[in-house]
Amino acid sequence: MVDVHAVMIFRSWLLSFCCFTVVVVAKRMPYEFITERTNSYTLPPLPYDYKDLEPFIDEATVRVHHTGHHAAYTKKMNAAIQEWESEAKVTESAMIFELLHRLEDVPDKYRVAIQNNGGGYVNHNLYWSVMSPNPNSDEREPTGQIGIDIDEDFGNFSNFKDLFTKEALSLFGSGYVWLCRDVNQNRKLIISKTANQDSPLQDGFQLPILVIDIWEHAYYIKHQNRRPQHVSDWWKLVDWTAVEELDEWWKKQNIKYHDEL
Ligand SMILES: [Fe+2]
Repeated sequence: MVDVHAVMIFRSWLLSFCCFTVVVVAKRMPYEFITERTNSYTLPPLPYDYKDLEPFIDEATVRVHHTGHHAAYTKKMNAAIQEWESEAKVTESAMIFELLHRLEDVPDKYRVAIQNNGGGYVNHNLYWSVMSPNPNSDEREPTGQIGIDIDEDFGNFSNFKDLFTKEALSLFGSGYVWLCRDVNQNRKLIISKTANQDSPLQDGFQLPILVIDIWEHAYYIKHQNRRPQHVSDWWKLVDWTAVEELDEWWKKQNIKYHDEL
């Protein structure tokens, strides 16, 4: 005879477990992978489906960008780290975040591979993290502390948006435009540009909290060479809550550097 009470308890437990699992999985953002200590990084799942950034970024572009370009950087970065660690008999891996910040400590033989592929891995993890679907094409503006700080450091959001857009349109070749916290300036917000797969983590101590990918692979299928349309569309996808969460996440990292990698 089935104990109805026990069945109800089990169903309740199962429901709670499933909900908890969904919450845990959904909460892991791509940027959280960059402070792992491993020589075998995984390609982070996106916090949305490939089609969900339509109509601003088309499904095919997002899919190829993630499973093609981002995956290739991940694979090549892991290969470089593993070869270096094997050769140097390293017993504990560094964070890719640390390696980019202290590229001068990476042996010459592996520096370019770490810079290009490690940068490609980290940059894309950050890029995916600060966008979210916007099916109603809402106008989005920062609120909360990030909104206050943008007003303080750039006058107002409109000024900031104009400055950021100007940098995105004037960047020569392929690269990224960033909004960063400059730790050397009391966490003042600054806009910066990087070429190729360079990272703001390489120069000084800038913590990136917003980024647009200006490589043509980010928009070529839909917009061909029309970068201004890509930038205009990208603003629709910026998730200011995610930006603020990333800003808070950096504060919690308690980042320390090792004397030796
Ligand atoms: Fe990209």
